[in-house]
Amino acid sequence: MILDILKFGDPVLRQQCAEVTEFDKELWQLLDDMYETMQKADGIGLAAPQVGVLKRVVVIDVDDGRIELVNPVITLMRGAQYEPEGCLSFKGKRGVVKRPKRVRVTAQNRFGKPVKFRGKDLLARAFCHEIDHLNGVLFEDKVLEWVEDEDDD
Ligand code: NI
Repeated sequence: MILDILKFGDPVLRQQCAEVTEFDKELWQLLDDMYETMQKADGIGLAAPQVGVLKRVVVIDVDDGRIELVNPVITLMRGAQYEPEGCLSFKGKRGVVKRPKRVRVTAQNRFGKPVKFRGKDLLARAFCHEIDHLNGVLFEDKVLEWVEDEDDD
């Protein structure tokens, strides 16, 4: 099911999200709906608060397969990259944000099993951006320079 994506200015986007403790059908449905919603919106990542659910849940797909993160934590950050980034809650706005070049993330999968990921470049950026959402942090807080949106779509 396609969910509504909250837009910037919505106070829900500034809330702290709660740890997931129940790995049940409701969580699986949320993950499936978030993935479908992200794909429909042509995004590479979506965090649960963006669909109004204050839980520590993220989906990511940087054209390299579906990644589901429940209760994710960044365990290592290395290097730096400066690239324009956007957000499905800020359609049409892009800005340069400093992010680590490489990160490691631990999380749980939809069944509650521990999982680990490594990401570099765009994937590292997506991990950082989406995990920020779970703490009410938005990319606009970190933009060094806004960039004109290219005529991409
Ligand atoms: Ni975002």
